Amino acid sequence: MRATVKRKAHFNAAHRLFKKDWDAQKNLEVFGKCSYPNYHGHNYELIVGVTGEIDKETGFVIDLKILKDLIESEVEDAFDHKNLNLDVPEFKTLNPTAENIAVVIYDKLKKKLDTTFDLEVILYETPRNYVIYTGA
Ligand code: NI
Repeated sequence: MRATVKRKAHFNAAHRLFKKDWDAQKNLEVFGKCSYPNYHGHNYELIVGVTGEIDKETGFVIDLKILKDLIESEVEDAFDHKNLNLDVPEFKTLNPTAENIAVVIYDKLKKKLDTTFDLEVILYETPRNYVIYTGA
C-alpha cells in the first residue's frame, strides 16, 4: 500500500527577476514589477509531498519529523530572510522564478531522500500563484 504524506513549511525571501543580457526595458516588458532593480519580497508557502510504501512495522511512509528536519536544513535555513539572487548560490545565474525555486528545492530534497520515494514540491509565491514540480 502506497500513500502520500505532506508537510507544509514557510519562508520569506527577496528576489528580482531579470536577464543580464536584456536591457531594463526588455526586462520590464517580460518580468513587469518583478524586474524592479531593488528587489521585492514574497511570503513563500511550501508543501512537500513524499509518496511511498507504508512500512508494515511503523505504519509510516516516512517519519514526518525526518521530513520536517530536512525541509528546515535544506530549504528554510538556506532561503528564509535571504535575498535569493545575492545570497543563495543556486540563483547566482538562475532566475529565481517560482518555477526555478521549486526545481531547486526538489533537487536538494531528492538527494537526501531514499530513492524509493516519489517527491512532489508545491510552492506558493502568492496565495493565488503556485507551481508544482515532480521531477518530470
Ligand atoms: Ni516576485
